[in-house]
Amino acid sequence: MDFNDPKFKEIFFAIHSDMPREGPGNEASLLRALSFMKELAQDPCILDIGCGPGTQTVDLAQHTRGVVLGLDNHAPFIQDLDQKIAAHNLGHRMLALVGDMTNLPFRDRSFDCIWSEGAAYLMGFENALKNWKSLIKPGGYLTVTEAVWLKTGAPEPVRKLWEEYPDLKDIEANVEIIKSCGYKLVEHFTLPVEAWWENYYTPQEERHKVLRSKYAGDPEALKIIEVSQMEIDIYRDYSDYYGYEFFICRVQ
Ligand SMILES: C[S@@+](CC[C@H](N)C(=O)[O-])C[C@H]1O[C@@H](n2cnc3c(N)ncnc32)[C@H](O)[C@@H]1O
Repeated sequence: MDFNDPKFKEIFFAIHSDMPREGPGNEASLLRALSFMKELAQDPCILDIGCGPGTQTVDLAQHTRGVVLGLDNHAPFIQDLDQKIAAHNLGHRMLALVGDMTNLPFRDRSFDCIWSEGAAYLMGFENALKNWKSLIKPGGYLTVTEAVWLKTGAPEPVRKLWEEYPDLKDIEANVEIIKSCGYKLVEHFTLPVEAWWENYYTPQEERHKVLRSKYAGDPEALKIIEVSQMEIDIYRDYSDYYGYEFFICRVQ
Protein backbone atom coordinates (compact mmCIF):
# COMPACT_ATOMS: atom_id res chain seq x y z
CA MET A 1 0.00 0.00 0.00
CA ASP A 2 1.35 3.39 -1.02
CA PHE A 3 0.65 6.26 1.35
CA ASN A 4 1.17 8.76 -1.49
CA ASP A 5 -1.67 7.19 -3.47
CA PRO A 6 -4.64 9.60 -3.01
CA LYS A 7 -7.18 6.73 -2.81
CA PHE A 8 -5.15 4.97 -0.11
CA LYS A 9 -4.87 8.22 1.84
CA GLU A 10 -8.63 8.87 1.55
CA ILE A 11 -9.56 5.42 2.86
CA PHE A 12 -6.81 5.38 5.48
CA PHE A 13 -8.13 8.58 7.01
CA ALA A 14 -11.76 7.44 6.60
CA ILE A 15 -10.78 4.49 8.80
CA HIS A 16 -8.57 6.43 11.18
CA SER A 17 -10.44 9.70 11.77
CA ASP A 18 -12.45 10.32 14.95
CA MET A 19 -11.21 7.19 16.66
CA PRO A 20 -10.42 7.03 20.37
CA ARG A 21 -6.90 5.72 19.80
CA GLU A 22 -4.46 5.14 16.98
CA GLY A 23 -2.57 2.32 18.63
CA PRO A 24 -3.02 -0.37 21.29
CA GLY A 25 -3.24 0.81 24.88
CA ASN A 26 -5.80 1.34 27.64
CA GLU A 27 -6.31 3.21 30.87
CA ALA A 28 -5.59 0.17 33.06
CA SER A 29 -2.17 -0.25 31.43
CA LEU A 30 -1.44 3.46 31.73
CA LEU A 31 -2.24 3.24 35.45
CA ARG A 32 -0.04 0.19 35.80
CA ALA A 33 2.85 2.03 34.12
CA LEU A 34 2.30 5.09 36.35
CA SER A 35 2.32 2.86 39.43
CA PHE A 36 5.98 2.01 38.75
CA MET A 37 6.96 5.68 38.54
CA LYS A 38 7.19 6.06 42.30
CA GLU A 39 9.54 9.03 42.23
CA LEU A 40 7.68 11.08 39.66
CA ALA A 41 7.45 14.73 40.77
CA GLN A 42 4.23 15.66 42.64
CA ASP A 43 3.21 18.11 39.91
CA PRO A 44 5.08 16.68 36.91
CA CYS A 45 5.49 18.24 33.49
CA ILE A 46 4.77 15.42 31.01
CA LEU A 47 5.18 15.41 27.23
CA ASP A 48 3.16 12.79 25.31
CA ILE A 49 4.90 12.35 21.94
CA GLY A 50 2.87 11.10 18.96
CA CYS A 51 -0.26 11.50 21.06
CA GLY A 52 -2.72 10.87 18.20
CA PRO A 53 -6.30 11.81 19.18
CA GLY A 54 -5.14 12.04 22.79
CA THR A 55 -7.23 9.59 24.82
CA GLN A 56 -4.18 8.52 26.86
CA THR A 57 -3.00 12.16 27.06
CA VAL A 58 -6.19 13.10 28.89
CA ASP A 59 -5.92 9.95 31.04
CA LEU A 60 -2.41 11.07 31.99
CA ALA A 61 -3.66 14.50 33.05
CA GLN A 62 -6.50 12.95 35.03
CA HIS A 63 -4.19 10.57 36.88
CA THR A 64 -1.42 13.07 37.66
CA ARG A 65 -1.48 16.59 39.09
CA GLY A 66 0.86 18.49 36.80
CA VAL A 67 0.94 19.79 33.26
CA VAL A 68 0.54 17.48 30.25
CA LEU A 69 1.47 18.43 26.68
CA GLY A 70 0.33 16.26 23.76
CA LEU A 71 2.30 16.56 20.53
CA ASP A 72 1.55 15.06 17.11
CA ASN A 73 2.37 16.07 13.55
CA HIS A 74 -1.16 15.33 12.27
CA ALA A 75 -3.17 18.51 12.93
CA PRO A 76 -6.64 16.83 12.96
CA PHE A 77 -5.51 14.60 15.86
CA ILE A 78 -4.42 17.71 17.75
CA GLN A 79 -7.88 19.21 17.11
CA ASP A 80 -9.39 16.00 18.57
CA LEU A 81 -7.21 16.41 21.65
CA ASP A 82 -8.14 20.09 21.94
CA GLN A 83 -11.82 19.09 22.01
CA LYS A 84 -11.16 16.48 24.71
CA ILE A 85 -9.24 19.04 26.78
CA ALA A 86 -12.19 21.43 26.59
CA ALA A 87 -14.75 18.67 27.31
CA HIS A 88 -12.84 17.68 30.47
CA ASN A 89 -12.14 21.26 31.58
CA LEU A 90 -8.42 20.58 31.60
CA GLY A 91 -7.32 23.69 29.69
CA HIS A 92 -5.49 25.09 32.74
CA ARG A 93 -2.96 22.24 32.73
CA MET A 94 -3.04 20.66 29.26
CA LEU A 95 -1.76 21.80 25.88
CA ALA A 96 -2.10 20.19 22.44
CA LEU A 97 0.66 20.98 19.97
CA VAL A 98 1.29 20.22 16.31
CA GLY A 99 4.95 19.28 16.12
CA ASP A 100 7.55 16.88 14.80
CA MET A 101 9.00 14.27 17.14
CA THR A 102 12.28 14.41 15.22
CA ASN A 103 12.68 18.13 15.85
CA LEU A 104 11.19 19.00 19.22
CA PRO A 105 11.06 22.70 20.16
CA PHE A 106 11.93 22.35 23.85
CA ARG A 107 14.92 23.18 26.02
CA ASP A 108 16.99 20.44 27.60
CA ARG A 109 15.67 19.11 30.94
CA SER A 110 12.15 20.45 30.35
CA PHE A 111 10.17 17.37 31.36
CA ASP A 112 9.72 15.11 34.38
CA CYS A 113 8.48 12.48 31.97
CA ILE A 114 8.36 11.81 28.27
CA TRP A 115 5.49 9.45 27.51
CA SER A 116 4.96 7.87 24.09
CA GLU A 117 2.65 5.00 23.18
CA GLY A 118 3.23 3.27 19.86
CA ALA A 119 5.02 6.19 18.25
CA ALA A 120 8.78 5.99 19.00
CA TYR A 121 9.17 3.37 16.23
CA LEU A 122 8.35 6.06 13.67
CA MET A 123 11.84 7.50 14.11
CA GLY A 124 13.35 4.19 15.21
CA PHE A 125 13.17 3.10 18.86
CA GLU A 126 16.88 3.59 19.53
CA ASN A 127 17.03 6.89 17.69
CA ALA A 128 14.01 8.18 19.64
CA LEU A 129 15.52 7.13 22.97
CA LYS A 130 18.79 8.89 22.13
CA ASN A 131 17.15 12.05 20.82
CA TRP A 132 14.62 12.58 23.56
CA LYS A 133 16.89 11.90 26.53
CA SER A 134 18.31 15.42 26.94
CA LEU A 135 14.77 16.81 27.28
CA ILE A 136 14.16 14.77 30.43
CA LYS A 137 15.25 16.11 33.82
CA PRO A 138 17.76 14.00 35.77
CA GLY A 139 15.75 11.42 37.72
CA GLY A 140 12.86 11.83 35.26
CA TYR A 141 11.14 9.08 33.31
CA LEU A 142 10.81 7.86 29.75
CA THR A 143 7.70 5.69 29.52
CA VAL A 144 7.11 4.17 26.10
CA THR A 145 5.43 1.29 24.34
CA GLU A 146 7.14 -0.52 21.51
CA ALA A 147 6.01 -3.45 19.36
CA VAL A 148 7.95 -6.64 20.17
CA TRP A 149 8.17 -10.29 19.26
CA LEU A 150 6.74 -12.32 22.16
CA LYS A 151 7.98 -15.64 20.82
CA THR A 152 9.87 -17.03 17.87
CA GLY A 153 8.56 -19.05 14.93
CA ALA A 154 5.88 -16.63 13.75
CA PRO A 155 3.84 -18.09 10.91
CA GLU A 156 3.89 -16.61 7.40
CA PRO A 157 0.93 -14.15 7.76
CA VAL A 158 2.53 -12.60 10.85
CA ARG A 159 5.97 -12.32 9.27
CA LYS A 160 4.44 -10.74 6.18
CA LEU A 161 2.48 -8.24 8.29
CA TRP A 162 5.66 -7.11 10.06
CA GLU A 163 7.79 -6.96 6.90
CA GLU A 164 7.00 -3.25 6.83
CA TYR A 165 8.77 -2.90 10.19
CA PRO A 166 11.84 -5.10 9.89
CA ASP A 167 13.20 -3.51 13.06
CA LEU A 168 10.83 -5.56 15.27
CA LYS A 169 12.85 -7.10 18.10
CA ASP A 170 12.20 -9.27 21.12
CA ILE A 171 11.88 -7.79 24.62
CA GLU A 172 15.46 -8.57 25.64
CA ALA A 173 16.92 -6.78 22.60
CA ASN A 174 14.87 -3.69 23.43
CA VAL A 175 16.03 -3.84 27.04
CA GLU A 176 19.62 -3.83 25.76
CA ILE A 177 18.87 -0.74 23.63
CA ILE A 178 17.37 1.04 26.65
CA LYS A 179 20.48 0.31 28.71
CA SER A 180 22.90 1.22 25.92
CA CYS A 181 21.15 4.60 25.58
CA GLY A 182 21.94 5.29 29.25
CA TYR A 183 18.53 4.75 30.83
CA LYS A 184 17.83 2.63 33.87
CA LEU A 185 15.04 0.16 33.20
CA VAL A 186 12.57 0.42 36.09
CA GLU A 187 9.99 -2.11 34.92
CA HIS A 188 8.35 -3.49 31.80
CA PHE A 189 5.20 -5.43 30.98
CA THR A 190 3.27 -6.59 27.93
CA LEU A 191 0.03 -4.82 27.07
CA PRO A 192 -2.87 -7.20 27.68
CA VAL A 193 -4.87 -8.39 24.68
CA GLU A 194 -7.88 -6.26 25.70
CA ALA A 195 -5.74 -3.13 25.28
CA TRP A 196 -5.66 -3.90 21.55
CA TRP A 197 -9.44 -4.31 21.28
CA GLU A 198 -11.02 -1.79 23.67
CA ASN A 199 -10.18 1.50 22.00
CA TYR A 200 -8.36 0.36 18.87
CA TYR A 201 -9.36 -2.74 16.90
CA THR A 202 -13.03 -2.93 18.01
CA PRO A 203 -13.85 0.63 16.88
CA GLN A 204 -11.82 0.01 13.72
CA GLU A 205 -13.87 -3.07 12.87
CA GLU A 206 -17.06 -1.03 13.39
CA ARG A 207 -15.68 1.61 11.04
CA HIS A 208 -14.82 -1.04 8.43
CA LYS A 209 -18.47 -2.14 8.43
CA VAL A 210 -19.70 1.40 7.80
CA LEU A 211 -17.13 2.00 5.07
CA ARG A 212 -17.82 -1.30 3.30
CA SER A 213 -21.36 -0.15 2.62
CA LYS A 214 -20.33 3.44 1.85
CA TYR A 215 -17.77 2.26 -0.74
CA ALA A 216 -19.76 -0.79 -1.96
CA GLY A 217 -19.28 0.15 -5.63
CA ASP A 218 -15.59 0.99 -5.31
CA PRO A 219 -13.40 -2.14 -5.58
CA GLU A 220 -10.19 -0.17 -4.98
CA ALA A 221 -11.53 1.26 -1.71
CA LEU A 222 -12.89 -2.13 -0.63
CA LYS A 223 -9.48 -3.70 -1.16
CA ILE A 224 -7.84 -1.12 1.10
CA ILE A 225 -10.48 -1.76 3.79
CA GLU A 226 -9.85 -5.52 3.53
CA VAL A 227 -6.10 -5.04 4.01
CA SER A 228 -6.86 -3.07 7.18
CA GLN A 229 -9.25 -5.84 8.31
CA MET A 230 -6.57 -8.45 7.58
CA GLU A 231 -4.23 -6.81 10.11
CA ILE A 232 -6.92 -7.21 12.77
CA ASP A 233 -7.68 -10.82 11.78
CA ILE A 234 -3.98 -11.69 12.04
CA TYR A 235 -3.88 -10.24 15.56
CA ARG A 236 -7.01 -12.22 16.49
CA ASP A 237 -5.35 -15.45 15.33
CA TYR A 238 -1.73 -14.87 16.37
CA SER A 239 -1.62 -12.44 19.31
CA ASP A 240 0.72 -14.74 21.22
CA TYR A 241 3.53 -14.06 18.70
CA TYR A 242 3.72 -10.27 18.95
CA GLY A 243 2.53 -7.47 21.17
CA TYR A 244 3.38 -4.13 22.66
CA GLU A 245 5.69 -3.81 25.62
CA PHE A 246 5.44 -0.91 28.08
CA PHE A 247 8.95 0.11 29.13
CA ILE A 248 9.29 2.36 32.19
CA CYS A 249 12.78 3.85 32.12
CA ARG A 250 14.58 6.44 34.17
CA VAL A 251 17.23 9.03 33.37
CA GLN A 252 19.96 8.70 35.98
C1 LIG B 1 0.48 4.54 16.11
S1 LIG B 1 -0.04 6.19 16.38
C2 LIG B 1 -0.16 6.23 18.16
C3 LIG B 1 -1.05 7.33 18.64
C4 LIG B 1 -1.30 7.39 20.16
N1 LIG B 1 -0.08 7.46 20.91
C5 LIG B 1 -2.09 6.20 20.61
O1 LIG B 1 -1.51 5.31 21.26
O2 LIG B 1 -3.30 6.15 20.34
C6 LIG B 1 1.42 7.12 16.04
C7 LIG B 1 1.20 8.64 16.07
O3 LIG B 1 2.42 9.29 15.76
C8 LIG B 1 2.13 10.44 14.95
N2 LIG B 1 3.34 10.80 14.19
C9 LIG B 1 3.88 10.22 13.10
N3 LIG B 1 5.02 10.82 12.74
C10 LIG B 1 5.21 11.84 13.63
C11 LIG B 1 6.20 12.84 13.79
N4 LIG B 1 7.26 12.92 12.96
N5 LIG B 1 6.08 13.73 14.79
C12 LIG B 1 5.02 13.67 15.64
N6 LIG B 1 4.04 12.73 15.54
C13 LIG B 1 4.13 11.83 14.56
C14 LIG B 1 0.97 9.98 14.08
O4 LIG B 1 0.25 11.06 13.55
C15 LIG B 1 0.17 9.14 15.07
O5 LIG B 1 -0.78 9.91 15.74
